[in-house]
Amino acid sequence: MSVRIDGREFPADGSILDAVLAAGIDLPHLCKDDNLPAIGACRTCLVEADGRVVAACSAPASSVREVLTTTERVERIRRGVLELTAAMGDPRPDLPHGPCGVQARQTFAAHAGVSNGLSRRERTAVDSTNPFFSFVETACILCGRCVAACQQLQHIGAIGLAGAGLATRVTPGASITFRESICTSCGSCVAACPTSALSPKTGGAE
Ligand code: SF4
Ligand code: FES
Repeated sequence: MSVRIDGREFPADGSILDAVLAAGIDLPHLCKDDNLPAIGACRTCLVEADGRVVAACSAPASSVREVLTTTERVERIRRGVLELTAAMGDPRPDLPHGPCGVQARQTFAAHAGVSNGLSRRERTAVDSTNPFFSFVETACILCGRCVAACQQLQHIGAIGLAGAGLATRVTPGASITFRESICTSCGSCVAACPTSALSPKTGGAE
């Protein structure tokens, strides 16, 4: 079975995102972890599929006949999503942006034309209590990858997304630090984070 992507036929293997990336097309996908099922949270992977705008990570390639990644409509919507995402968190310039291969700052610059141009929400907490990693909230884009890694890879559930709207934040629990939480310091959340909001300590506390 095949799917037509931007005018060419490709194998309809996996999700639309899988097929688009296998076709060599650079489509943003900030919340999709290679090791986990799609979360569908960030909406940066939007494409037009059979005339509808869909999150490419969340739909099987075999379920559609034609995918377009560069129509005026989908590029306008995707750019808006990326600009809002860039406004949420400023990927740490002092660190590589996670070992997952997704580099948020480069994604923002390449696809939205912004690095951190909009005002960010007021989330400024820093938690360096864990001996092995730190959490810098200003870099967090609320993609949920750390939460999925903790729950679905490690089955621990030491980290979650709490609150709603502008108050939404990543947290190890109400009024507790990472050190006080049930976190086992496995590092899965750090490996999943595309912005280095969660980053390993290279030696001692930061
Ligand atoms: S800490 Fe990193 S992985 Fe977790 S929600 Fe924020 S940006 Fe995403
Ligand atoms: S990568 Fe598809 S919604 Fe985030």
